Amino acid sequence: MKAVIFEKYGLPEKVLEIREVEKPIPKNNEVLIKIHFTAVNDYDWGLIRGKPFLLRLMFGFFKPKYPIPGMELSGIIDAVGSNVQKMKVGDAVYGDISTYGFGSFAEYISINEKAIIKKPNEISFEEAAAIPHASLLALQALQDKGDIRHGQKILINGAAGGVGTFGLQLAKLYDCEVTGVDSGEKLEMMKSIGFDYVIDFKKVNFTENDLQYDLILDCKSNKSPFSYLKSLKSNGKYVTVGGKLVSLFKILFWGKTLSFFSSKKLQILSLRPNEGLDYINELFKQNKIKCILDGSYSIEEIPRLIRYFGDGKHKGKIVIKMNGQ
Ligand SMILES: NC(=O)c1ccc[n+]([C@@H]2O[C@H](COP(=O)([O-])OP(=O)(O)OC[C@H]3O[C@@H](n4cnc5c(N)ncnc54)[C@H](OP(=O)(O)O)[C@@H]3O)[C@@H](O)[C@H]2O)c1
Repeated sequence: MKAVIFEKYGLPEKVLEIREVEKPIPKNNEVLIKIHFTAVNDYDWGLIRGKPFLLRLMFGFFKPKYPIPGMELSGIIDAVGSNVQKMKVGDAVYGDISTYGFGSFAEYISINEKAIIKKPNEISFEEAAAIPHASLLALQALQDKGDIRHGQKILINGAAGGVGTFGLQLAKLYDCEVTGVDSGEKLEMMKSIGFDYVIDFKKVNFTENDLQYDLILDCKSNKSPFSYLKSLKSNGKYVTVGGKLVSLFKILFWGKTLSFFSSKKLQILSLRPNEGLDYINELFKQNKIKCILDGSYSIEEIPRLIRYFGDGKHKGKIVIKMNGQ
């Protein structure tokens, strides 16, 4: 089978190679999946370069523990191990596999059956590969941490990517007024998909324009916790899903400290992969949300696409077709 391999950390165009490798054989509790589509995530950009350094503590200090990157997929089960309980050959499946490993930048993968769930017929393979990670970051941040309410004023920072575009659609289910912050060239696309207001972060610092929000969803935390507090109404909630490590540590510290004497909350989401996908599936079936896709592209383009993602050129989720159907 074809797979994207990296044996050392570095720039995607230098370290990623497309090679022919042995098709994996599923262990007892694993399923072999013929991958139809995969998607690019922030994890891939970090994992391939070994940056931030913390990633190396988890995924191989000197060289990558998982030689094939990629963490989201959709496909069809091709074979099952002897102890597999819930899945059978021919099932259409999808999921965020990062709890159980990586390796979706390949034509086949063997992975624990718990890493994936069955794909509803109403969702295409292409969409399914783009859903699990970003939609659940948005859902868990807005609902579980943010306690989103009808008619609120919401701001999404880093709004044109996977999380932001799902976040907008989820917020609109609550009739919220949504402001999106991202770079200037993405603002037209953001208006076209329904953001009420858009801000170019290179021109305006949203924490210094005297506007306040009930809820802020941040995909790119890079400011001081106190500047976020200024942008929250009383009882407002700030939830970050990612950003600069130093900002995240400060938010963690001040979030805990402030919880004793402020009505405003600063919180960090720790994603629970695939938890809540049934709800997302229902919204898809009812045409209440859709994927904003960038692609689909081919496996040969993956090194270029990782760079394209890292340079922030993408709009929505980058999807890649792995097996022709
Ligand atoms: N909490 C968890 O458990 C968990 C797990 C996995 C991943 N994550 C995090 O979740 C986030 C994934 O978001 P995503 O998939 O939507 O990412 P994405 O597709 O890269 O979207 C982020 C958007 O933010 C924009 N941006 C960059 N710098 C910005 C700034 N200073 N201000 C405002 N916008 C800015 C980017 O534009 P440009 O690129 O043009 O600059 C891009 O359009 C990442 O931060 C990742 O680390 C969290």
